[in-house]
Amino acid sequence: MDKIFLKALKGETCTRPPFWFMRQAGRYLPEYMEIRKKAKNFLDFCYTPDLAIEATMQPIRRYAMDAAILFSDILVLPDALGCDVAFDEGRGPVLKPVVCIDDIKKLSADDLLENLSPVFETLRGVKDVLPKDVSMIGFAGAPWTVALYMVEGRGGTDGSRVRRWAYEDEEGFAGLIDLLVAATTTYLIEQIKNGAEAVQLFDSWAGLLPESQFNRWVIAPTRAIVNKIRETCPEIPIIGFPRAAGVLFEPFIRETGVDGISIDSGVPLDWAASTLQGRCTVQGNLDNQLLIGGGVAMEEAAKRILNTLAGGPFVFNLGHGILPETPPENVARLAAVIKDWNCA
Ligand code: CP3
Repeated sequence: MDKIFLKALKGETCTRPPFWFMRQAGRYLPEYMEIRKKAKNFLDFCYTPDLAIEATMQPIRRYAMDAAILFSDILVLPDALGCDVAFDEGRGPVLKPVVCIDDIKKLSADDLLENLSPVFETLRGVKDVLPKDVSMIGFAGAPWTVALYMVEGRGGTDGSRVRRWAYEDEEGFAGLIDLLVAATTTYLIEQIKNGAEAVQLFDSWAGLLPESQFNRWVIAPTRAIVNKIRETCPEIPIIGFPRAAGVLFEPFIRETGVDGISIDSGVPLDWAASTLQGRCTVQGNLDNQLLIGGGVAMEEAAKRILNTLAGGPFVFNLGHGILPETPPENVARLAAVIKDWNCA
């Protein structure tokens, strides 16, 4: 196996660190805006394999990342479970809120794989055209973050409704999390069968939870998914991204057994090197705002990350996704800085 992204996730230190960027496809690219017009809304876009294949490939053609990430969204899973999901232009996702046990009972995983079949078709299509040395990443939202959108009904909240439900009615809320653990596992295994060579679990809102709740709703569901995937697909590396988990990144790695940890920009580099990198491959963590400004500030920050982390198992990435206002030429410059880096 000579794909450097997969080597890094197996624990190797690569002479040139592999890289990809969260949200490497999307609105900052003019060619994405061009094909985005062809679908009547964002979910349709995700469910149209020809468009999703093209969106997946656009950043690879421009910047030659070491991994392509499936173009889709974490909210196709609740959509496939029968929860009403829409993406309002300018407002982001809007869902019909799930607020009680009766609402959970209305959801069903019976048609999950059939409803998500365009996603699997996209993966197969990307695999056909992907350069041989580029890896294919599949992904899903982690149960806590997907539940947050389902309960809140939208993004941009402080998660007060979902946290209150989780604290006040552990058993009821566990019904939703358990359903999501099972569906996410099935979904990721099917992505792997259709060509995903590694998978990432996005837990964007993990940082909202205090320790005991983090153990219950972030670590335990992730561990259950990791264990189940390993039973069927022991060779496939799994990356966790419990964003803004702070010192809880360490127990997260220890207790979930992930192969890679994606760290946000708030994680101190020396601590990541000394405490996290001995346990698994570290991925991260340039501030996505630096990519908007570019220039010397971006280059110096990128070199600091490389100098601290590229001496061990490491994948260069951002701390969070590329933002729509990012100039594409800054992404090209960052790719060049990573490719030209040498530890001397
Ligand atoms: O390039 C890639 O990284 C692959 C595609 C991808 C998207 N969303 C495409 C997308 C991935 C991996 C995601 C994950 C995702 N989606 C997360 C976890 C990562 C994170 O950013 O925290 C979350 C929380 C979502 C939910 C979501 N999707 C929100 C809150 C929004 C609206 C905000 C926004 O940026 O518009 C989306 C929409 C979305 N997902 C877009 C893209 C390219 C923009 C939609 C458009 O083109 O109109």
